[in-house]
Amino acid sequence: MIEHLQDRFGIPNVVTFDAGQGGLTRVRITTPLASAEVYLHGAHVTQFQPSGHEPMLWLSAKSMYQTGKAIRGGVPICFPWFGPRGGDGVSPAHGFARISEWQVEAVGQGIDGVVELILSLGSNEHMRNIWPHAFSAKYRVRIGSSLELSLSVTNEDPVAFIFEEALHTYLVVGDVRQVSVSGLEGTMYIDKTDGLKHKPQGNERMTILGETDRVYFDTRAACVLDDGAMDRRIAIAKHGSDSTVVWNPWIAKSKAMADFGDDEWMGMICIETCNVGANQITLQPGATHELGAVIGLG
Ligand code: BG6
Repeated sequence: MIEHLQDRFGIPNVVTFDAGQGGLTRVRITTPLASAEVYLHGAHVTQFQPSGHEPMLWLSAKSMYQTGKAIRGGVPICFPWFGPRGGDGVSPAHGFARISEWQVEAVGQGIDGVVELILSLGSNEHMRNIWPHAFSAKYRVRIGSSLELSLSVTNEDPVAFIFEEALHTYLVVGDVRQVSVSGLEGTMYIDKTDGLKHKPQGNERMTILGETDRVYFDTRAACVLDDGAMDRRIAIAKHGSDSTVVWNPWIAKSKAMADFGDDEWMGMICIETCNVGANQITLQPGATHELGAVIGLG
């Protein structure tokens, strides 16, 4: 399987397929612009490092790499729902896309040096048992000096369906207590750490002062993460996205998660490009919706 992928899609010294952690199929990309890693399990981008700079994506040292489990860090794709889906006990948290095996459709490199991977996922019987809709998804990952991600979902059903989605991006920070995030000023959010209360962000940049789990609605602006400790800025621009989730588990939640190091909360923040809750998507038969993010030094 890996040899077959290498023969068909590998690019000598640039794109290599190998067995990554847990034996899962991994794509490694190395160019003069950046290096990156993508697992076909979940179409999960686990690493992105622009040349000459520190890594941008955070990955837990405690992450599991196994069938049926999501990788902790990088960019999990949440689809077709976000969160626990009412805690019904059978639906995997954040949907099945992040624990499904994606297919490689195409790999190429432009004359500008940017590498593009196209991965795909189609509905199967197992998925239809928990989410009774026919869909096809395409994920375009472009690795240049920025990381460009776009997820297109097409409704292959004869009737409309509703879904939620997120590019659940984990970013490396020097110390989360010293970061601020702009781009959310003047919006409303639901505070999942405070009984789902609706709260206004106000006109100030957001900061992380404790456990943070917020769903911001009607947010279309780019977010800029200002990292005082690392002295860098990361911009997350987006399209086709009306919500933004910001998450840091802080101390107690980190300890409670088996795949998250007790002290790792200090070095990460999730700024997620989403369409969730009131911003969920209704897709007509045959229609396609695209959600995209561009993550780069700001
Ligand atoms: C965030 C959610 O996006 O993901 C949080 O808002 C959740 O509520 C977090 O805890 C992590 O989810 P999971 O399923 O990857 O542990």
